[in-house]
Amino acid sequence: MTQALYDDAGSGPAVVLLHGYPFDRSMWRAQIDFLSALGYRVIAPDLRGFGETAAQTSVCESAGPGHRLKSVPLNNEDEADRTITTMADMAHDIAALMDELEIADATICGLSMGGYVAFEFVHIFPARTRALVLAGTRAPADDEQEKQARAQQAEQMLARGMADIAAATLTKLLAPRTLAEKPSVVTHVREMISRADPKGAAAAQRGMAARRNYSEDLSGIKVPVLIIVGRQDPIRPVADAEFMHRGLSNSRLEIIEDAAHMTNMEQPEVFNRALFGFMEALDNSAGG
Ligand code: MLT
Repeated sequence: MTQALYDDAGSGPAVVLLHGYPFDRSMWRAQIDFLSALGYRVIAPDLRGFGETAAQTSVCESAGPGHRLKSVPLNNEDEADRTITTMADMAHDIAALMDELEIADATICGLSMGGYVAFEFVHIFPARTRALVLAGTRAPADDEQEKQARAQQAEQMLARGMADIAAATLTKLLAPRTLAEKPSVVTHVREMISRADPKGAAAAQRGMAARRNYSEDLSGIKVPVLIIVGRQDPIRPVADAEFMHRGLSNSRLEIIEDAAHMTNMEQPEVFNRALFGFMEALDNSAGG
């Protein structure tokens, strides 16, 4: 039996939700339920190397026309040390999934790493991008120090698993209020990190280190963009969101209070309201 690699809920204009690193599609539960009840078709995949897609894509195939997510077993454990999943690979995966589901275009919503994939998607498939939602992400590429830190983290994960990563990052991912008052969110985030496949996560780290400088794309993005950022996000702070807002010609900026990096999980009602307001305005402008 094939495992489900994505959620597909509701019917209506499509919205594709792209999770961050090192998470999986379960982070979007509140948005899937909310938008599908309001007349949208919501697609939330486990990106390549994550969640249930990890088990089926232990080695990445190169992206290109006719590209598909496939199960390719590892012959040799050493291969895991060289694998790279580029942001463009993931964008091609999304286009292939949309083909399979017969979705011509969609609003592409990505959080953090999902935002990098959204930047690639609109660059490669502009006609299939109705609008973008960029949450907790940034446009510039990594500097040398950041690239080195990613290479080190990839080695550490392959050698020792994900537990250290969960312990080291929770206080950056979540705002003090979330940590104090929302134990179920804390547990969910810790569990997503702990169950992530180190090989898939390491491959994505290498892909993020190799990503392009999306600042150069900003002025060419013509679709409407909603930018969302947590007021207390130390990973992708408000300044990163303001930089994108300045560079884009058609964007709105939503700053969410009492949230850090995981805005959609920490403040789901506020996040959903912003998302719905944006999507509703798109539908109204398309309708008349
Ligand atoms: C994420 O949440 O996806 C990561 O923080 C992205 C990154 O490491 O740049």
